[in-house]
Amino acid sequence: MTRPLYRLVYYSRNRIAGAPGDVAQTVQGILRASQRNNFEVGVTGALLFNAGIFAQVLEGRQDSISATFERIQRDPRHGDVHVLGFEQTSAPSFPNWSMAYLGRSREAENLFGSIAADSGFRPDSLESERIFRIMREIALEEESAAA
Ligand SMILES: Cc1cc2nc3c(=O)[nH]c(=O)nc-3n(C[C@H](O)[C@H](O)[C@H](O)COP(=O)(O)O)c2cc1C
Repeated sequence: MTRPLYRLVYYSRNRIAGAPGDVAQTVQGILRASQRNNFEVGVTGALLFNAGIFAQVLEGRQDSISATFERIQRDPRHGDVHVLGFEQTSAPSFPNWSMAYLGRSREAENLFGSIAADSGFRPDSLESERIFRIMREIALEEESAAA
């Protein structure tokens, strides 16, 4: 029997200082480490970075996600980490990405406008589902644009 699949959605605030180019380079480094580590433990997902906010979806086995997220939470390159949801799910939504990077897009800007203005996301499952759906949409759009 296959082990149940879980999905964790969180958002956090950037703590990487410096010029935009330096920040982008650091984020690329985070992404490379994420892809390497996640691939090894069968975790997939997507990372969005916009308006000083990270949003991330992690999916995989519960123990793999917990271990990965514990490491992520301790990372001083971001802070104010808010979990929006951690639930069982029937199928992975980012099966082809050990960590997809969702760049700047109108959807992301709309999504993050409110938190950048400091009102925050609502920490409930509806919000988790909404963010997750938007991220999946952006990933699918980027995948078809790249094809
Ligand atoms: C916003 C953010 C998202 C991250 N996502 C992941 C991730 O999905 N997987 C991962 O292994 N590390 C992730 N990291 C990096 C971890 O905090 C940590 O630096 C890394 O796992 C250490 O890996 P290494 O020992 O192979 O360098 C993330 C860090 C930040 C700031």
